[in-house]
Order: sequence, then structure tokens, then C-alpha cells
Amino acid sequence: MSDRDHLKRAAAARAVEFVEPGMVLGLGTGSTAAFVIERLGQLVAQGLDVVGIPSSERTAEMARHLGIRLTTFAEHGRIDLTIDGADEVLRGSLDLVKGGGGALLREKIVAAASDRFIVVVDDEKLVDRLGQHVPVPVEVTQFGWQATAAALERLGGRPELRQAAGRPFATDGGNFIFDCRFASIDDPGRLECRLNMTVGVVDSGLFVGRSSAVVVASERGVDILKPGQGVR
Ligand code: 5RP
Repeated sequence: MSDRDHLKRAAAARAVEFVEPGMVLGLGTGSTAAFVIERLGQLVAQGLDVVGIPSSERTAEMARHLGIRLTTFAEHGRIDLTIDGADEVLRGSLDLVKGGGGALLREKIVAAASDRFIVVVDDEKLVDRLGQHVPVPVEVTQFGWQATAAALERLGGRPELRQAAGRPFATDGGNFIFDCRFASIDDPGRLECRLNMTVGVVDSGLFVGRSSAVVVASERGVDILKPGQGVR
């Protein structure tokens, strides 16, 4: 438990109010998304009929445990609504850095297939510049990771291979992650494109132009932000 958990829970509860019976839901990953799944589990136990596409094995396990029915892209080509967390949210555009939990690739696939993508955060995640508090996670193939690291340096990044239990962290898809610091991210869309054009990069944790809304919880209450405006 962290001292931000009551805020994460409040943002999650507000976001789940957008869920309607019969929806195909994208299920996010991370501690805030876990509160979303917990709340969905309660509603499913009360009779809500939804199916979910999980963005990680961790999330799939939690959803199954709570009785939330899971489905796949083989059965449903589109997702009605995805609710997921973020590591940073850029004020105004609502562009994101995600992937602190290592699920960025599946999270981006799920977000891209969603009619609506709602992000849940506490107010500490709002920033004036992406990369202010966290590096940008970049998922890369294991093969040639050293060459990909050199290419990321040529893009102006300082890549650090993510570790877990004394060895390189491997994603659900078996890839590695570089946590990559950039001196200044002036144009997140341009950086996202340049990263995706780098051979060996599978995807990055920059989510540009994808947020439909961000539900932000602070000690003052819960706000719903839309791209380009701040709307309650
Ligand atoms: C996982 C993610 C998470 O959404 C992000 O790291 C935020 O996590 P938390 O809600 O635990 O702060 O992108 O890959």
C-alpha cells in the first residue's frame, strides 16, 4: 500500500462509471489499473456483463481470479473502452509516458484498438514536460540489444537496460526494456516516430495523441481532463 492509494482508488472508481453492460474492455496494467480491475470484479459479481482483453499476464491472472471473463483479438477486433494508468501525463495534450510496469507494448496495442482510452492517475503524474520525472521505456528485441542501445544513444538518449532480480527484465513478449533518458522532450510525437523507426525497437512508452480523457484524483477531488482542455 502506498500513501497515494486512496487517490488511485478514487480515480479508478470514477473511470469505471464509464463502463456499460455488454462492453469489450481493455484492461490496463499497474497499481492504478489494479484498482480498476478490483472495482470491475465487484460489479461483475453483482451481475455486470462485460468481457476484457488484458494488457499483461499479471492483469489476466487478476481478472480471472475476480471472475472477469477474458477474450482475445481473435474474437473481438475492437475494444469499446480501455482504462489504464500512466507514469506521466503531459498537461494540455494528455500525451503519456507508460511502461513503468513493463507492459507498454501490449498496452499500446490494446489502446490503439480502443474506441475510447481513459487514463487513471493521481495528480503527481501530471507534468509540464514528458520525461520530467521518469525515463521513457523502450522495448527492444533481445537480439542485438547492444546495437540498439548505440542507436538510441545516437538519438540523444541515455539507455539503461532494465534489470529484475539481477538479470535483464524480460517482457511478457520476451523482449528487453531500456529506460531511456532524453535531455529534453520538446516534441513527443516526433520522438515516438523516431524511436519506432529505429531497428531493434519494438515500441516505446510514449503514447502520443491516444488519450480520450484522463481521470485525475487529488486531495481536492477527482477531475476529468480532455485533450486540449481541463473539464470537470
Ligand atoms: C505499466 C504501465 C502503468 O500503467 C504505469 O507504470 C503506471 O503504473 P502505476 O499505476 O502503478 O503507477 O504503463 O506498464
